[in-house]
Amino acid sequence: MDTALVILAAGMGTRMNSDLPKVLHEIAGAPMLAHAMRAGAALDPARIVVVAGHGAQQVSAAARDWDERAEIVVQEEQLGTGHAVAQAAPLLKGFSGDAFVLYGDTPFIREETLERMREARASHDVVILGFHAADPGRYGRLLMQGETLERIVEYVDATDEERAVTLCNSGVLCADSATLFDLVAAVKNDNAKGEYYLTDIVALAHARGLSATAVACDEAETMGINSRAELAAAEAAFQARARTQAMADGVTLTAPETVHFAFDTVVGRDSVIEPNVVFGPDVTVESGARIRAFSHLEGAHVSRGGVIGPYARLRPGAELAEDVRIGNFVEVKAARIDRGAKVNHLSYIGDAEIGEDTNIGAGTITCNYDGVSKHRTRIGARVFIGSDTMLVAPVSVGDDAMTGSGSVITDDVEPGALAIGRARQVTKPGLARKLFEILRAKKAKSQAR
Ligand code: UD1
Ligand code: CA
Repeated sequence: MDTALVILAAGMGTRMNSDLPKVLHEIAGAPMLAHAMRAGAALDPARIVVVAGHGAQQVSAAARDWDERAEIVVQEEQLGTGHAVAQAAPLLKGFSGDAFVLYGDTPFIREETLERMREARASHDVVILGFHAADPGRYGRLLMQGETLERIVEYVDATDEERAVTLCNSGVLCADSATLFDLVAAVKNDNAKGEYYLTDIVALAHARGLSATAVACDEAETMGINSRAELAAAEAAFQARARTQAMADGVTLTAPETVHFAFDTVVGRDSVIEPNVVFGPDVTVESGARIRAFSHLEGAHVSRGGVIGPYARLRPGAELAEDVRIGNFVEVKAARIDRGAKVNHLSYIGDAEIGEDTNIGAGTITCNYDGVSKHRTRIGARVFIGSDTMLVAPVSVGDDAMTGSGSVITDDVEPGALAIGRARQVTKPGLARKLFEILRAKKAKSQAR
């Protein structure tokens, strides 16, 4: 049976105090909307509908960027969660299967939780995701009768007795798609807030002889984000989980609380991540690699046995083969570095290819940009690039070649050749001593005046 996702993301997010729509603020390098879409992707949905409102254009671009199948519907006025879901009805007319309602600002729902909801659907028409709240505050309350969810009451509309209930509504739910839209169409706004409450579908379902139940999950999963402080707390929660998971996966973290992962970081078993390492999106570190302290990696692939840092920066397109070494204050971008090659000190390697076992001397720079376009540098295998070589791209250096230190290489170097591109040294015997005397005499004269 097919599944559709309806992801609510129309809210303004006033408390974020931001020009950026709330759901586009990032956690671990991805917009919170993308986290919600990732969670929903576990259900292998046939359709993904995002209900956008405030900043709809940006939200829609981000949703499509994440999953090109995302369909966007704009809720012009935010009249409540029921009204928001109703906006998806025209798009999902005729869809047969279940619909799950998720939220762009609730990024941490787990795959297993959605699976449990799907299982509960076997015996109930409507399944609501609830949680036992440590501090139920202003959440909607789930009023249960045994396994049956009788109705949901919003905090503002609840009696004291109802407010004493601690099983709260996460907002996430699932039902047969056609049934959901039938129920939502019947929702009225005669309540304390004058809003169309999605939660009213539970009572409406019972009135039609349908059944509803609740599945409970950990409160941490239902964490919603409304302010920058909550965004920071969500980031911290994500990082704590990612660190625990990495260690469980056999990765050594010397100082776990200082390592920052992206939403998609992959680190292989028996790798070591030293303190203060930051991962941006799209990094894979294979088994047995070591990422030394204070390194920053994004869009990079480190193969087995690689040693990176300390203080290294790997940028998108850094593709490092086995046993590559990248040392301190080295930046690598869009470059393939083959097995066993070393770039150990103070270098910029961009738009380049470096062959096996090549050694790049300290201070080497691939001058990849001419002010208008980028050009490639190709360096063969077993090459020795002397310290402080400027490789003015496009340029290539053949296998087993050398460059003299301090060279500016503008012409291709053939295999096995030594290329030197610098002014010849001139040495004048005794001249330094003479110069010192002249300079000291000058200084003494000016101080006597
Ligand atoms: C809602 C639930 C409440 C639950 C709580 C959990 C209802 C009526 N109440 O309350 O039971 O405990 O979530 O956090 O559903 N949205 C739209 N369009 C709208 C209205 C809302 O897209 O017209 C989106 C918001 O951007 C937000 C989400 O839906 O992401 C929830 O809306 P919000 O107004 O925050 O609902 P709550 O009052 O928190
Ligand atoms: Ca809310």
